[in-house]
Amino acid sequence: MFLWGTATAAYQIEGAAREDGRGASVWDTFAHEPGRTRNGHTGDVACDHYHRWREDVALMAGLGVNAYRFSISWPRVRPQGAGEVNARGLDFYDRLVDALLAAGIQPVPTLFHWDLPQALEERGGWMDRDICEIFADYAAVVAARLADRVPLWITLNEPFVHMAYGYAMGLHAPGRALMTGALPAAHHQLLAHGRAVQALRAAGARQVALTNNCTPVWPASREEADLRAADAYDVLHNRLFNDPVLLGRYPDLSAYTPALDFVRDGDLDVISAPLDALGVNYYNPTRIAAPAGAGLPFQDAGITGHPTTAFGWPVVPDGLRELLTGLKARYGAALPPILITENGCSQQDVPAADGTVDDAARVDFLDRHIAAMRQAMAEGVDVRGYLVWSLLDNFEWAEGYEQRFGLVHVDFATQRRTPKRSYHWFREFLRAQETGQNTET
Ligand code: BGC
Repeated sequence: MFLWGTATAAYQIEGAAREDGRGASVWDTFAHEPGRTRNGHTGDVACDHYHRWREDVALMAGLGVNAYRFSISWPRVRPQGAGEVNARGLDFYDRLVDALLAAGIQPVPTLFHWDLPQALEERGGWMDRDICEIFADYAAVVAARLADRVPLWITLNEPFVHMAYGYAMGLHAPGRALMTGALPAAHHQLLAHGRAVQALRAAGARQVALTNNCTPVWPASREEADLRAADAYDVLHNRLFNDPVLLGRYPDLSAYTPALDFVRDGDLDVISAPLDALGVNYYNPTRIAAPAGAGLPFQDAGITGHPTTAFGWPVVPDGLRELLTGLKARYGAALPPILITENGCSQQDVPAADGTVDDAARVDFLDRHIAAMRQAMAEGVDVRGYLVWSLLDNFEWAEGYEQRFGLVHVDFATQRRTPKRSYHWFREFLRAQETGQNTET
């Protein structure tokens, strides 16, 4: 069955930040520090999904999706990161899983979508190797409760973005600006992923995946210096996180570090344990030029000539086809089936006087990206699902509530949910799949 669904993440929607024994996460800390997020917004309340989950499951049932990717809040399950298990936290996901299954929706949980327990950050966060075992232990605790009903698990969300924004540039929690010194945070995430794969399988999980953020990299010109810079960026953004998992080795990282002294014997065997799927999040390509000065071996040259989202991100549907066929060309038989675990766009959606939200540009975005995915499938890429980011407008990290990605509009003052035109469009699209009007996937 091809998975058609939506995706969310715990800190972006749940709220109830101090309820039922939940511990603090790095995002609670970061968002409460002055100047870290737009307008000082936090995820304290977010979409209040922790209380309104029944309504949100009903929205998905109405939409007709057969899959829902959500993330599990590590500090809700283990308030201190390790040690004590908070039964009320697990109960929440247990009820959610049952409600999804009752609605015919396959739950696809992600174990880590950036909300590290604050207590673990104080021990060094992802810079500390011990976290790999602690993560595997947390994975085992969650799977012991849910693996009987959850067929497919995702270990981590976008370790590249977490390393780059959280540890290298300090734009996301935990707000560290280590630049290339952040590379151990990549390795420890990958090793934790590998250890979690083992723990999940031992607990009976049938299928396990990792979600990477991938981008086609376009050199700004055919000049040698731009080609070299584009290659260096491709290594950092894409290959650093795909090669170890799929090929069991790191790409050449000499442009970033003289030695991988944080990698130990045997680590790559753990990291490259076979996966049932690779989760791919796609938003846009990246155009790269040679650096202007010293520092990083590349610079972002920006993309012009394409429409942009409210975030200013270029809309390039064919980039998804390019990305998928490129992954197949690069990894060949080592590439497992692909699941598009996120794709979507932000807009400044404002309800009209009659309450409707006409997000025509999002409809066009989704329609064209699905077509590009199908084109890649026609060219031989094995894609097994497509999940829209996101079900609801939500807490968009450093951008607070300014950027709206939902199929469903959320009025954050009242928590009123209003399905947008894109929701109605996706529902009709999914109906057409069922009735066989469109049998390509
Ligand atoms: C993340 C989401 C985020 C989305 C839009 C992805 O990088 O996984 O959490 O909201 O992009 O920025």
